[in-house]
Amino acid sequence: MTTVIAKYSQFVMPDHINVVGTLFGGQMIAWVDLAAAKASYRFLKGADIDGSVTRTIEQVEFKEPVYLGDWVNFTAKVVKAGTTSFKIEVKAYAEGRKTEPRLACVASVIMVSVKKSEDGTYKKIAHGKSL
Ligand SMILES: CC(C)(COP(=O)(O)OP(=O)(O)OC[C@H]1O[C@@H](n2cnc3c(N)ncnc32)[C@H](O)[C@@H]1OP(=O)(O)O)[C@@H](O)C(=O)NCCC(=O)NCCS
Repeated sequence: MTTVIAKYSQFVMPDHINVVGTLFGGQMIAWVDLAAAKASYRFLKGADIDGSVTRTIEQVEFKEPVYLGDWVNFTAKVVKAGTTSFKIEVKAYAEGRKTEPRLACVASVIMVSVKKSEDGTYKKIAHGKSL
């Protein structure tokens, strides 16, 4: 069985903060998508495809607030492989200067492998990968 895990980190800067002084949820989701994209990149290595796109981001849960100056450390794991799609579970752990790492956000991302067609658009294509 192949295990594909990617790690990805971001530092929370002033531009990422919402009006109540914590990390903006939309920013977190963008980072979740990037963490999933890194796992996707690894999962699809060697496949005859041109890339992958996000089809759904589901079951997003913001479990703990994240603060200015925290690091956010993501793990993204491919947990299911379909024909053109695959599912990635993403966990985001916030790390403060004075706090223990805490699970701040979880989400499931479905990505679909694509290939450029003759008309220039990207169409789904079987990735041929399994877990
Ligand atoms: C992703 C895309 C290429 C899929 O093409 P499509 O012809 O609509 O494909 P389908 O509806 O048949 O779905 C493709 C796969 O996704 C799965 N899928 C679709 N919707 C799903 C959902 N809500 N939940 C889980 N899986 C889903 C299908 O089961 C299928 O998986 P399989 O081939 O492994 O069995 C197309 O929908 C697209 O381009 N969407 C926009 C993507 C985008 O812009 N993303 C943001 C930027 S990255």
